[in-house]
Amino acid sequence: MTIVKQDFGCVDGEKPVHLYTLKNSNGCEARITNYGGIVVSLTVPDRTGKPGDVVLGFNTLEEYLKGHPYFGAIIGRYGNRIAQGKFTLDGVAYTLAANNNENHLHGGLKGFDKVVWQAEIVEGQDGDALALSYLSKDGEEGYPGNLSVKVVYTLSDDNQLRIDYAATTDKPAVVNLTNHAYFNLAGEGSGDILGHEIMLNANRFIPVNAGLIPTGELRPVKGTSLDFTKPVAIGARIDSGDEQLRLGRGYDHCFVLNREDSSVTLAARVYEPTTGRVMEVYTDQPGVQLYTGNFLDGSKVGKRGIAYGYRNGFCLETQHFPDSPNKAHFPTTVLRPGQTYSSHTSYRFSVR
Ligand code: GLA
Repeated sequence: MTIVKQDFGCVDGEKPVHLYTLKNSNGCEARITNYGGIVVSLTVPDRTGKPGDVVLGFNTLEEYLKGHPYFGAIIGRYGNRIAQGKFTLDGVAYTLAANNNENHLHGGLKGFDKVVWQAEIVEGQDGDALALSYLSKDGEEGYPGNLSVKVVYTLSDDNQLRIDYAATTDKPAVVNLTNHAYFNLAGEGSGDILGHEIMLNANRFIPVNAGLIPTGELRPVKGTSLDFTKPVAIGARIDSGDEQLRLGRGYDHCFVLNREDSSVTLAARVYEPTTGRVMEVYTDQPGVQLYTGNFLDGSKVGKRGIAYGYRNGFCLETQHFPDSPNKAHFPTTVLRPGQTYSSHTSYRFSVR
């Protein structure tokens, strides 16, 4: 696996930004920038061997700097929502930006998706890997603790993009890191993803209120339009009128992964019938947010000059559950000095 570095521009007139092209021996290629740790493109073959770019994004840094709905970015400190932007940790109350109606979303106004990471090409298990690091100072976006974060991207020869996350802190903190890639396995700019067939390894999901904040319940998917225990087209029931889908404007829910322990497990498998592309997601995280691009409105024009319309991409954001700092019965996201937060997710591509 090789990595080529090239200029991608500059942030605030001083911070250089680069684009790293990771290529494996099978013709798979990922282009990743140290601005937001964004996966700019991900090119994988279809069943005829024809390569195609399966993630939404832009060609230039300028387009990202104009603002976008987290296309391909590393999300933190806390992926997903925290109710009212408030939580208490060890008796201390913290207030975060309410940047999603009255709630907090994806780390706040300037989350990890909008910072410039230190980048280094390192020796990994499968050849070169791209290591990104960032120090989020105590109080940044209202969060406690100097949090030192490292994210390593590896593209292996068996066509998997692996993401390894790690973090340490010098004060009690909350951490929930993920990646916000929007996929379209038929190729970015190919229209909606409603024909993609998805299987989620989850017998339960987390119902939400109108603000997409968990009610606290872990509800069985059985008999609902959120049952993906068997492969189903994403669009088959998306407009079924199910209350949860009305609240989400489609799928925008965290699914509780079936797991015995915290080992890396299959979370999802997605098949796109017209190209034969298959994507499997493996993770050690307890949940995965299925988001079907319900807020995409055609205002963002992608790499091939095609506007990204309603539901033109889907995200599978592996994570701890939303609003866990306020839900004592959810797996904890608290990190203490001396502990290391670590999380692994991989997106594996094949064809059928
Ligand atoms: C996550 C949220 C969605 C939406 C997108 C970004 O997936 O769950 O509600 O905010 O981020 O637009």
